[in-house]
Amino acid sequence: MNVIVVKDYEALSKTAAGLIQSQLMWSPDSVLGLATGSTPVGTYKVLIDLFKKGEINFEDVVTFNLDEYLGLEKSNEQSYYHFMRENLFNHVNVNEDHIHIPNGISDDFEQECLNYESDIVKAGGIDLQILGIGHNGHIGFNEPNVEFEAKTHIVSLDEETIEANKRFFDSVEDVPKKAISMGIKTIMRSKKIILMASGQGKADIISKLVKDDIRPNLPASVLHLHENVIVLIDEAAASKL
Ligand code: F6R
Repeated sequence: MNVIVVKDYEALSKTAAGLIQSQLMWSPDSVLGLATGSTPVGTYKVLIDLFKKGEINFEDVVTFNLDEYLGLEKSNEQSYYHFMRENLFNHVNVNEDHIHIPNGISDDFEQECLNYESDIVKAGGIDLQILGIGHNGHIGFNEPNVEFEAKTHIVSLDEETIEANKRFFDSVEDVPKKAISMGIKTIMRSKKIILMASGQGKADIISKLVKDDIRPNLPASVLHLHENVIVLIDEAAASKL
């Protein structure tokens, strides 16, 4: 695990965007795995700026998002579909047909999960996966005690995750209790992974991630078994290392 500490959130966003830019420079048709949440918003802003300056091209890029809430229509402002449109896709030249986000509204979620998994395989696998980390160590919505062998699946969100994500909703009751998420196995098959964290609030979990053993109740710890992971954090998130 390669830990890179940068000064602050701005530096974190610039560094992550720079790594994505290099990836696309060498491999313009890369498959990117993308995350939602607060952490990557700054990175997406830098990518949009680079695009406006003509310094990055998403034309041939294929994207797969990590997760989506169950039961939210694409048009719902809290859906991750809406988040991705607002924070990245509406502002760059990514091809509509190349965007993949798990479908939170389906009559057959089992099939939906299988299709998502096979779409990733058909695309050649994820070249570069961006991850945030939950305070409980989740990656995607793979909550503590997840099966490390799980592929894309339906998950029940932890109380801690519901509590953490209520900031995006009118009330805690509005936060969906389930989601569809890439599994740990799906994430681990990515060729490269960048896990990002910012702020004092993430210092405890980053310290556990870096120092503790691999254990299912800290899902992100599985990344120790991956050969190409960058843990990109700011000084505040690194303060307990
Ligand atoms: C988002 C996701 C989550 C977040 C994590 C951190 O697609 O899969 O694992 O990355 O909850 O969220 P923030 O960045 O809001 O602290």
